[in-house]
Amino acid sequence: DSKKRVFSGIQPTGILHLGNYLGAIESWVRLQDEYDSVLYSIVDLHSITVPQDPAVLRQSILDMTAVLLACGINPEKSILFQQSQVSEHTQLSWILSCMVRLPRLQHLHQWKAKTTKQKHDGTVGLLTYPVLQAADILLYKSTHVPVGEDQVQHMELVQDLAQGFNKKYGEFFPVPESILTSMKKVKSLRDPSAKMSKSDPDKLATVRITDSPEEIVQKFRKAVTDFTSEVTYDPAGRAGVSNIVAVHAAVTGLSVEEVVRRSAGMNTARYKLAVADAVIEKFAPIKREIEKLKLDKDHLEKVLQIGSAKAKELAYTVCQEETLKGL
Ligand code: ADP
Ligand code: NA
Repeated sequence: DSKKRVFSGIQPTGILHLGNYLGAIESWVRLQDEYDSVLYSIVDLHSITVPQDPAVLRQSILDMTAVLLACGINPEKSILFQQSQVSEHTQLSWILSCMVRLPRLQHLHQWKAKTTKQKHDGTVGLLTYPVLQAADILLYKSTHVPVGEDQVQHMELVQDLAQGFNKKYGEFFPVPESILTSMKKVKSLRDPSAKMSKSDPDKLATVRITDSPEEIVQKFRKAVTDFTSEVTYDPAGRAGVSNIVAVHAAVTGLSVEEVVRRSAGMNTARYKLAVADAVIEKFAPIKREIEKLKLDKDHLEKVLQIGSAKAKELAYTVCQEETLKGL
């Protein structure tokens, strides 16, 4: 369908983790074949909502490019680009920010979580980044957005902004739908009430795609479960072990029932090591490809340049339409 367009983004800061992979990137790869028009953005403007070292950030952008290519993002099938290279993102973000009232942003879970956990006030950018996210999506008149469950609230804001804009200025933006991935939310291995996140200060909580097999084993060994040694799936009652079961199912492609059935007779301590092995096996070929790609910096830069030029052309065209020019 020529009217359908997929958009999604990922921050370059921090190394891709199991939550990003199972909650986003794996479906990004699949969607490249299911839709004709697909854009994936390395959203560096979102990264600077918190302090960054510019040299480190530049390197992280190239590293993330290598990781995404290694995971199967194919520039022949989708537009892979760097957000800050398309200035229209900030232009549309400004227009949309004039349509949102402050309390709406102050009430978002992620803002509350980030500012209370980090015990600081947060920048204006950290508060308004969901508006920039809305601009990222609407700029391309995107119709479908693959996201993890952690982003559902932000997608509601995007939908409200599209509707509000259309009501005020006439039908312009499609109201985008979320595509929820099968692994909706991977939890922290140390605190199953929290999501696995790049920025978690507890290094054992997050399994990174570049972790060595030894690190992966150690993280699963230390993963928080409970006092019952049997392996069961009960997300409400046994969040820790259920998270591990869900990860196991996702990396093996088996159903939750099937992995539970196969683990009969195993205690959770042994089971955690079996899941660690499955994760190691899943990541091994991707890790090898990342190492290879990282050797060719010119190639990575070129991929981003070509992708960003393509995105720029689409964004420019939308911004030149009467509706946006006349604001
Ligand atoms: P992080 O929150 O770790 O910084 P990003 O904000 O860059 O990650 O998110 C990139 C993508 O990964 C988004 O689509 C988001 O929904 C998904 N994602 C992030 N964390 C998780 C998780 N723990 N489980 C499932 N999906 C996740
Ligand atoms: Na495609």
